[in-house]
Amino acid sequence: MSNQGKMDCGRRRLIVATAAVGGSGVLAALVPFVSTMLPSERAKAAGAPVEVDISKLETGQIMTVEWRGKPVWIVNRTQEMLDTLSSLDSAVSDPKSEKAEQPQYCEGVSRTIKGRNPAISVMIGVCTHLGCSPTTKFKNGAEEGMPADWKGGFLCPCHGSTFDLSGRVFKNKPAPTNLPIPPYRYLSDTRILIGEDTQGA
Ligand code: FES
Repeated sequence: MSNQGKMDCGRRRLIVATAAVGGSGVLAALVPFVSTMLPSERAKAAGAPVEVDISKLETGQIMTVEWRGKPVWIVNRTQEMLDTLSSLDSAVSDPKSEKAEQPQYCEGVSRTIKGRNPAISVMIGVCTHLGCSPTTKFKNGAEEGMPADWKGGFLCPCHGSTFDLSGRVFKNKPAPTNLPIPPYRYLSDTRILIGEDTQGA
């Protein structure tokens, strides 16, 4: 075979190989699509409770799960984070969360279930102004590009609403109420069921 013939042959092999990779790429893309059609996934989308393992959630960390198409945050707050909450009562617009959407069994500045670990916060990560998703600003002011007296919390990037680490909105911000808390209950110390409780809330 001439050199030109060998080159053409090599080029054809390359094209075939590329097509095969493209084919497997399409297959890989289809797998998640097929899995979204499973009944359990459909049930979740319709609002079935979501069980969450929080055993690996370290202090100072946040994890996000989806419930009814919304992000639900679970934050494991440090003792220092918890200690700052009361000092912010005069700076937030609804310190006792009286206007907030939250189950009646969640209470105090921690906004958690009475008798359970107050460090573990569960809230819906959707801004109560126009529905953007706030971002975490857990560190103190200067480290996060926030005002010097910032004690950690969340910032909504759309119109600047700020929330403390319990999801309480600060005064004079566009968001009208604190971040909502979904119904939830503990299955054990390290497992939470979001979307269902024992009190019919
Ligand atoms: S949507 Fe969050 S401040 Fe407007």
